[in-house]
Amino acid sequence: MPMHEPIDQAFILVEPGVAARTAQVFARIRSVIPTFKWPQFAPEIDAILRLKRERNAVILAHNYQTPEIFHGVADIVGDSLALAREAARADAEVIVMCGVYFMAETAKLLNPGKLVLIPDPSAGCSLAESITAADVRTLRQRHPGVPVVAYVNTSAGVKAESDICCTSGNALRVVESLGSEKVIFLPDEYLAANVAAQTGVEIIPWRGRCEVHVRFTAQDVSELRESFPGVSVLAHPECAPEVVAAADFAGSTAAMADYVAAKRPSRVALVTECSMGDNIAAQYPDTEIVRPCRLCPHMNRITLPKIRHALETLTHEVLVAPDNAARARACIERMLALR
Ligand code: 13P
Ligand code: SF4
Repeated sequence: MPMHEPIDQAFILVEPGVAARTAQVFARIRSVIPTFKWPQFAPEIDAILRLKRERNAVILAHNYQTPEIFHGVADIVGDSLALAREAARADAEVIVMCGVYFMAETAKLLNPGKLVLIPDPSAGCSLAESITAADVRTLRQRHPGVPVVAYVNTSAGVKAESDICCTSGNALRVVESLGSEKVIFLPDEYLAANVAAQTGVEIIPWRGRCEVHVRFTAQDVSELRESFPGVSVLAHPECAPEVVAAADFAGSTAAMADYVAAKRPSRVALVTECSMGDNIAAQYPDTEIVRPCRLCPHMNRITLPKIRHALETLTHEVLVAPDNAARARACIERMLALR
């Protein structure tokens, strides 16, 4: 089925009131969703927009959420850093995190008085699962006195054992802020190597990897350049260093989106999770977005029916064990205090 269908064909199976209330959303995403899905999406979006008002809820969505969530129901979108900042200052009673579990946990740590919900609590992350709090204690014993930087893609327990948090948007700045010759950087081995390439600080890495970004190769980048002449290649720093070296730019998901917004390249390849390409394509129809598609199975667990269910039933609540909460919060707040 072609992606662009006349608006009335997509609306034919949608109840007229719902169609009218969701018409603006449809206009935003029609170029990036299969039209036959709109009759499923529209009533869910309509119900979620109503429930948000009734529950005094705010929906935060990561850049990897699918377009019907990202452009359809989210109040705030962004990378991990932006979502952490926004969660800290949210004043709604309920925060629904459309992202993976560590993002919801971060929101709860930074705004503990709120009811924080995640539509699917099994939305994990291969990086967060690659290391435990006990592993961090062992690392500290092996490298006494060396400060520990924890990527935000970690559990609250790991953050509680670490000195300061970082995201892909500020990793280099965080490492250099410590004024130490050596830093333990966990758990992403590739992000660690990409930071090490830009600093004189000695980085002691852990061996975690993102199951999505690990699959991109430098050969993929060469093939993109051959198949799409003139393409600007943007890569996430969770990719291997040789992929980052072959790209034109590397940065967090927000930095990649900002690059497209500022430079408006005619053709851009996003060497990252696939839904992000759809979200950017919906915003910049004049830019051809090449998507060497790799989906994050965890991010993709979040769906409109699950968001609706979360708001209807006020589940699944995210809680952090009190013995970890204060130290994990301090770890994130040290990062947020850096300007
Ligand atoms: P960003 O902080 O760049 O959005 O990355 C989060 C993530 O999980 C990337 O895989
Ligand atoms: Fe984790 Fe990778 Fe998915 Fe990001 S893309 S949430 S790092 S598994």
